[in-house]
Amino acid sequence: MELPLSILGAIKFPNQAQFNPCKYANGLVKSMLEKNVKIFENTKVVDLKNKDELYEVITENGNSVTAKYVVLSSHYPIINTPGYYFLKMYQSSSYVVAVETQKTLFQGMYINSEKPTFSFRTAGNEQSNLLLVAGMDHKTGEKKDLSNNYNELLKMAKKIDPTCKLKYQWGTQDCISLDKIPYIGRFSSLMPNVYIGTGYKKWGITNSNVAANIIVDKILGKENPYEDVFTSTRLEAIKNHQEVGNLLKEVAKSLVIEKLKIPDETLKEITNGDGKIVELNGKKVGIYKDETGQLFAVKPVCSHLGCELSWNNLEKTWDCPCHGSRFSYMGKSIYDPSIHNLERIDIE
Ligand code: FES
Repeated sequence: MELPLSILGAIKFPNQAQFNPCKYANGLVKSMLEKNVKIFENTKVVDLKNKDELYEVITENGNSVTAKYVVLSSHYPIINTPGYYFLKMYQSSSYVVAVETQKTLFQGMYINSEKPTFSFRTAGNEQSNLLLVAGMDHKTGEKKDLSNNYNELLKMAKKIDPTCKLKYQWGTQDCISLDKIPYIGRFSSLMPNVYIGTGYKKWGITNSNVAANIIVDKILGKENPYEDVFTSTRLEAIKNHQEVGNLLKEVAKSLVIEKLKIPDETLKEITNGDGKIVELNGKKVGIYKDETGQLFAVKPVCSHLGCELSWNNLEKTWDCPCHGSRFSYMGKSIYDPSIHNLERIDIE
């Protein structure tokens, strides 16, 4: 069945596959367990240290795992130096709504070419027929009103089926390299046997498979015909792109100018369910007022490299405009590259 929207023209990519990512992840886990791979859940890694010819992967509670080869696959790398990925990558947030529909849906996945970007795909089983509409992306941490993003996606879903019902909605975040090509391979020439796969530009399932193949070949000492395309230590991205200027401007603005500016908001001006940075006793404080009027205050300075955070009024989080770290309104670190929580502030 054709996409029930009017379009001027389209490019078709044949031989695409669509599958259930949960089943896929379960299959991966199953095959790892069959090979006696150990999986540690709820074990946050906070550092990586060289130890003789090996590496010590240090976790939050002080335990460590020692390994000859390490693959940093934590979305945005949590190690800043060497590597300097924070100079060559940013994060982008986007949103999805899943609506239930009685209509017979099209097969296939569609994406438009203009802004804002919308993409469509289907999911579900015999009991429920789901249409997924994704899009409304923006640079993470950008100061803008996000409160309508899910409504815009829902409006788009209703163009396909006006009677559809919203079942689920969620936000997602992706790493984007400055030249839009993923970084796959050696993490840094100063850390042999440490590998990285990141900057998948919203094509994580596809690009992570490319990364897995290249990194496995490198560890086994084999050539891979695609490794040169993705060389992770490349600097061309930094040299050639105007976006590095934007990234640095954002960091400079956040580190210097914003901290000197005195905002005139007061506690009274924060409405229930919203957050703001205010100045209290000469200090900047990030305050969220919940629906009942209870206040939660944090120091609004990113625990990654110190940029000032901005309030995300859609997901009730503190987001960093520099490299996309995100924190709950209570200051808990929820998105890398930051690995530490924000400082909480007690207020009356
Ligand atoms: S994410 Fe790097 S300074 Fe915030």
